[in-house]
Amino acid sequence: MSRTVLITGATGTVSTALTHVLKGAGADLRALVRDASKADGLREQGVEVFVGDLDDARSLPPTFEGVQDLWLLTPNGPRAPENNMNAVWAARQADVERVVRLSVVGAAHDAPNRSGRLHALSDRETERCGMRWTILRPHWFMQNLLNEADDISATGTFSLNTASARIGMIDVRDIAECAARVLLDHPDRHHGETYVLTGPRSLTFDEVADRLGLVLGRSITYLPVGDDAKRRTLLGYGVPEWIVDMLEEYAQAYASGWGDFTTDTVADLLGRPPRDIADFVRDHAAAFTPAENPILKFR
Ligand SMILES: NC(=O)c1ccc[n+]([C@@H]2O[C@H](COP(=O)([O-])OP(=O)(O)OC[C@H]3O[C@@H](n4cnc5c(N)ncnc54)[C@H](OP(=O)(O)O)[C@@H]3O)[C@@H](O)[C@H]2O)c1
Repeated sequence: MSRTVLITGATGTVSTALTHVLKGAGADLRALVRDASKADGLREQGVEVFVGDLDDARSLPPTFEGVQDLWLLTPNGPRAPENNMNAVWAARQADVERVVRLSVVGAAHDAPNRSGRLHALSDRETERCGMRWTILRPHWFMQNLLNEADDISATGTFSLNTASARIGMIDVRDIAECAARVLLDHPDRHHGETYVLTGPRSLTFDEVADRLGLVLGRSITYLPVGDDAKRRTLLGYGVPEWIVDMLEEYAQAYASGWGDFTTDTVADLLGRPPRDIADFVRDHAAAFTPAENPILKFR
């Protein structure tokens, strides 16, 4: 019997990459979205789209009917454990067989950041959900650098409050391929496993800047800033205060060396090394490149 995978977070960074990989492998996919008008791209790929909201348990049952595998991604925020609980409950009611959950690096009840502590709650719940389960705990996403793309394009600099942190950052495309590997394998194969996913090496942002400069052919500089300056910038962009606090907690942990490690798990799962920062920068170079000179454009 063919299996249906339900994708949550379907319009976001990780699940978009996962949908791409699973569709390429011919999987039957269903997506949970909050806003049907954002789902045209999913429909075009042949994904069945259901509308529901992880904040609203009553909106979920129809989406879970006839699903065998749940890709469970909860958004950042104080309601993440409630979102996980609503999805796990809907999955149990619908006799879903397997949950593959996206957690976070360092998730633990004593993690130095609220996101890690909240994810730990949902990891525990998932481990006891009565279904087959696998948990992925990825490190810092290389794709987070896209948040700095406007500054890098415009000024050749980017500012973070991570001091001289080293981070075993990972390309989201590798997270997606690992998730797809797990979802495409037999449900028993990865049951009960928690996989910590990292890139191939631990990098400073000076090294990231050097790599950006090499690929873009111009000087790119990382400018470390203090917590208060970063907080003002993020609040100025309209980032919610809870998220700003969370990011500050991560930055402080990373600055103290908390993220300075890598694992072999991506290579073990995929049979090839994880993508390097050089691959990420090469494949996203356009995002960091200043828009074409508008005068030249009309010639
Ligand atoms: N960034 C990192 O470095 C990092 C590292 C490790 C783990 N993580 C984890 O990765 C997860 C975020 O993944 P991402 O970056 O792919 O997310 P994202 O791009 O921010 O997308 C979030 C997704 O969740 C959906 N969503 C938000 N609220 C929802 C709700 N109430 N009900 C249903 N769907 C809802 C959004 O839909 P809409 O389009 O409707 O908004 C969107 O599809 C978090 O759990 C985070 O802790 C992040």
